[in-house]
Amino acid sequence: MITALVTGGCGFIGTNLIRLILESTHDWKVINLDLLTYAGNLENTLGLEQDYPGRYIFVKGDIADPEMVNRVFQEHGLDVILNLAAESHVDRSIEDAGVFIRTNVMGVQVLLDAALKYKVQRFVQISTDEVYGSLGPQGRFNEAMPLAPNSPYSASKAAADLLIRSYIKTYGLDAVITRCSNNYGPFQFPEKLIPLIVVNAHEDKELPVYGDGKNVRDWIFVEDHCRGIITAARSGVSGEIYNMGGDAEKENIEIVSSILDYLHKPHSLIRYVKDRPGHDFRYAMDYSKIEAEQGWRPRVNFDDGLKRTIDWYLEHKSWWQRIRTGDYLEYYERMYGGR
Ligand code: NAD
Ligand code: DAU
Repeated sequence: MITALVTGGCGFIGTNLIRLILESTHDWKVINLDLLTYAGNLENTLGLEQDYPGRYIFVKGDIADPEMVNRVFQEHGLDVILNLAAESHVDRSIEDAGVFIRTNVMGVQVLLDAALKYKVQRFVQISTDEVYGSLGPQGRFNEAMPLAPNSPYSASKAAADLLIRSYIKTYGLDAVITRCSNNYGPFQFPEKLIPLIVVNAHEDKELPVYGDGKNVRDWIFVEDHCRGIITAARSGVSGEIYNMGGDAEKENIEIVSSILDYLHKPHSLIRYVKDRPGHDFRYAMDYSKIEAEQGWRPRVNFDDGLKRTIDWYLEHKSWWQRIRTGDYLEYYERMYGGR
């Protein structure tokens, strides 16, 4: 049995990853360590203990708390660490960078020290394409490109990547870094573009589009990313970085229009608002390295994935209606109220 620690397993990608690991393997056991911040939802993983007896355990805790982390490593005899715990929203990092540094940098240091102390076989860091900065109209990011993050969020992720590099070089830690583009799919918190537009359009609310709506993201269905993380954990080469992308470059306005058309809602709901400060223009990933070495490539076509995602949100209204309370409403008002 391989015992994997998945941190941030009650968030968007973590939830999808844990479900995929439990469904697609027979010899993996998952310990999910999550602080349950505003983005973590225990409901996402409800029932997994019963569905997969002896193969799933939830622990509430903070990756930046060394005592808690050491206890988890000691108690569970971990083989692999898959670190997804993070503050993940760029706009929130622009409001307040502090918690991003604490979790995304200091939390990683705590996990790395524990990985060395308890001699885990492999550390997998879930990083992001945003560490490369922004592209012009041409080209794609490859793993040899320099780090040039532009937001406090992406700077915190780049800092973690560099810290991991230092632990590989200095202490001989076995670690792999994955860098993926924009994920979409079930369980994504409705502060991110696709779920925000789906739920707002469904409720006939205005759809905030930053700037001129022409910024480009490379969209990947979350299940494809999760399959890549498992591949990197199983057979990635220690010390290597693997880019993943979805081969689906879209302008934001194209996405918003597609969602409106699918829901039969009027385009008059679109509201152009003030641009995000330091807004990266374009991301696009060259994933030829992981494809050549590990045989991974994205499988889900964007139009199919988007329909599956919209349908999921329509079928799970109570899931997002319960989330859109308290802190979220305050955040939403701060973000969009005055614009
Ligand atoms: P998310 O915000 O949906 O989930 C983050 C999870 O981490 C939540 O469950 C939260 O409770 C937990 N968490 C936060 N701080 C914690 C702490 N100190 N200790 C323990 N748990 C904590 O994020 P996501 O979109 O699922 O992203 C997961 C990871 O993937 C992040 O590291 C992110 O940088 C990376 N990533 C995301 C994308 C994307 O498009 N969403 C793309 C590439 C990489
Ligand atoms: O590229 C990977 C990254 O993708 C991850 O590392 C991040 O964790 C994840 O949040 C995501 O970052 P983005 O900033 O690209 O995602 P977001 O959904 O916030 O925004 C996507 C695009 O849509 C971006 O150009 C900003 C724009 N946008 C976003 C929101 C929330 C709008 O126009 N209106 C909005 O209301």
